[in-house]
Amino acid sequence: MKIFIDTANIDEIRDIYQLGILDGVTTNPSLIAKESGRDFKEIITEISELVPGPISAEVISLDTEGMVREAEELAAINDNIVIKIPMTKEGLAATSILASKGIKTNVTLIFSANQALLAANAGATYVSPFIGRLDDIGMDGMELIRQIVQIFDNYGIESEIIAASIRHPQHVLMAALAGADIATIPYQVLLKMIKHPMTDKGIEKFLADWEKTK
Ligand code: E4P
Repeated sequence: MKIFIDTANIDEIRDIYQLGILDGVTTNPSLIAKESGRDFKEIITEISELVPGPISAEVISLDTEGMVREAEELAAINDNIVIKIPMTKEGLAATSILASKGIKTNVTLIFSANQALLAANAGATYVSPFIGRLDDIGMDGMELIRQIVQIFDNYGIESEIIAASIRHPQHVLMAALAGADIATIPYQVLLKMIKHPMTDKGIEKFLADWEKTK
């Protein structure tokens, strides 16, 4: 499974990128807003020059024409930019237009398998089902991933599934077992995935034993 980082913070991206484990980056308006005072396009440009993989940048318009206009401006920043489009009727139309222009899209805010199927049929390069937000309202986010994986397998659909809205390492593990193509993971969750108390304990013991050899 490919690993994306879900942040607009350049220091977090740089820190994970240097580990050699990063395949791409996803941002959204809320994540951009956390980078107070910085210009949206400036942030996206910087990220796209740092990480060679796909970089998702989200449109703000709600009408098809506005989405396509914003998408064309964002796509012009760099070859690796992917346009995040909200899962609406207007968003589907924009996805289809952008697909015909060869612009890659990531259809976001997906909360049902039917939405994922429609997004894929409209030509989405990626679909982003939100696991954590479904769990938050007492539903089973991972079941959604399983359903989308099965439907895409049934029909040989090529859109890639990004497990999004990830809250903890267990979400990543379960998404990988379910067959998601990608997980987009917050920085703090990635750090937690690296750590294990037994690893720390093991290092401590090896070093203590090594000292005895002196
Ligand atoms: C996905 O691309 C979104 O940016 C993200 O995963 C949303 O996660 P949240 O529910 O933690 O805001």
